[in-house]
Amino acid sequence: MGFFITFEGIEGSGKSTQITLLRQALERAGHVVLQTREPGGCDIADQIRRILLHPQNTALEPTAELLLYAAARAQHVCEIIRPALQQGHIVLCDRYTDATLTYQGDGRQLDRQLISQLNYVATQETSPDLTMLIDLKVETGLGRAFAREIDLQDSSEGRFEREEIAFHQRVREGYLKLAAAEPHRFRQFDGALSIDLLAAKIEKTTFDFIAQSKGQL
Ligand code: TMP
Repeated sequence: MGFFITFEGIEGSGKSTQITLLRQALERAGHVVLQTREPGGCDIADQIRRILLHPQNTALEPTAELLLYAAARAQHVCEIIRPALQQGHIVLCDRYTDATLTYQGDGRQLDRQLISQLNYVATQETSPDLTMLIDLKVETGLGRAFAREIDLQDSSEGRFEREEIAFHQRVREGYLKLAAAEPHRFRQFDGALSIDLLAAKIEKTTFDFIAQSKGQL
């Protein structure tokens, strides 16, 4: 089996930039890497992503939203993540089950037990070996996310960015709690660091983890 590494954080935390930099560093070192994201990562899940993130879909019910995340994940795990891990590749995924616990659990305040059950059904225990949490103040993250929307002139995925500040605050705190509860899996980083410094820290953490895991085999 390969290694499964997920990236988590609030909007604008810089995870998408960092995941790409880590993929490039791993590839330079000769690893075969699959970079993917949730919701999405394959055609069917990408179609679900468009429903989930479109700002016009304000009528989407929280429970329907939760089930759509689970459906997208079930497809993504079966079609993309598990086969890549079985081939011994390193899978880097931008968000995964922790995002459902924080956004639908802490943010929307849906039942955590139900979320955990759906996460289990969707993943069948395909769980991350390592999770990089990039922590950042909500105001800074949302500022970056809106600036990016304006830069790209693309507002087709901004449904969550339009949530109130308190929602994002609950999500941030939810992530910090998850990280504190599972210190063996989570590594926490300061999203206010420069891109290069943060990338160097994430790279070192990853290479140390791979070396240590290989040593244990
Ligand atoms: P991103 O690709 O910019 O990270 O956007 C994905 C959005 O979807 C982000 O606002 C977080 C949200 N999300 C959930 O609410 N629950 C989930 O399970 C996942 C994977 C993402």
